[in-house]
Amino acid sequence: MRVLLTGGTGFIGTAVTQALLAAGNEVTILSRHGHTDQPHCRYIGTLDQISRRTRLDAVINLAGASLAGRRWNAAYKREIVESRLGTTRQLLAMFGRMEHCPATLLSASAVGYYGHQGDDVLVESSPVEPGFAQALCSDWEAVALQARSLGTRVCLLRLGVVLDTGGGALSEMARSFSVGIASWLGTGHQWLSWIHRRDVVRALMFLLEREDVQGAFNITSPSPVTSRGFAAALNRHYRTFIQAGVPAPVMRLLVGEMAGELLLQGQRVIPGRLQAAGFEFSYPDLESALAAIYAAHT
Ligand SMILES: NC(=O)c1ccc[n+]([C@@H]2O[C@H](COP(=O)([O-])OP(=O)(O)OC[C@H]3O[C@@H](n4cnc5c(N)ncnc54)[C@H](OP(=O)(O)O)[C@@H]3O)[C@@H](O)[C@H]2O)c1
Repeated sequence: MRVLLTGGTGFIGTAVTQALLAAGNEVTILSRHGHTDQPHCRYIGTLDQISRRTRLDAVINLAGASLAGRRWNAAYKREIVESRLGTTRQLLAMFGRMEHCPATLLSASAVGYYGHQGDDVLVESSPVEPGFAQALCSDWEAVALQARSLGTRVCLLRLGVVLDTGGGALSEMARSFSVGIASWLGTGHQWLSWIHRRDVVRALMFLLEREDVQGAFNITSPSPVTSRGFAAALNRHYRTFIQAGVPAPVMRLLVGEMAGELLLQGQRVIPGRLQAAGFEFSYPDLESALAAIYAAHT
């Protein structure tokens, strides 16, 4: 297959690229930075470099400024939105001028799509609660879905917190553990829907191949945990001396608005449609995921 990736240089994108190349695909990556082409993998700086006659089998859209990268202010919130919606609109414009529209678009979203929902178990059809991240995901998905009118199969990837070393959230979450403090955030009762990065890659490869499925897919493990449950599981991999919750006001002081949106509240999401389609997780529970991650990096 010929596959175009946005965000192909990121934490998820590099792992997806490796898997695509290992499976014998031709990969093109859109990046704002210069990179040296490799066998079967070329980098482009703008979508104008894709000619209208190019035949792409699939596009995987992962680009987006990090939500946890910086303290949110009005300018950074605009960048968070524009990096996602703007890139997706550019893809749509490219699709519109191509002689052969790509057959498949896998476009990222996040479990933030559902908003904050307490203890309710959420599947793809669950109702949403409004908020900044919720509106961001909803608008991002709406742009991606426009590709359906061009005949493209669209799968929306409602990603949970992706776990692995070498980037992503785990190194931040494990920071206090590495200095002997097992910590959780706020009350610790908020839900955290997580997935091992290898299962993200496998789920994307599964959705690429399964031409009979489309629409929204929760890309999360079947066993979300609370913040306290996550701390307990992580604690088995560290020698800690103190166990403590970081109070919500301290979190708000430290990271501002992001604390309320991403850290102090959460979603209890399960991968209903992925499992109904027959996908099997390599790491269905947090213990096996963390054991694999820490075994591979010790
Ligand atoms: N990792 C998670 O736990 C998680 C959870 C839920 C949703 N997601 C979503 O999944 C996608 C990929 O996540 P990731 O963890 O791989 O992210 P990442 O490591 O931060 O990579 C993001 C990618 O987006 C591109 N990018 C960054 N800022 C940009 C900007 N201002 N304009 C255009 N492109 C920009 C970068 O490409 P260049 O620098 O090469 O241009 C980079 O490859 C993101 O959209 C994220 O929201 C991730």
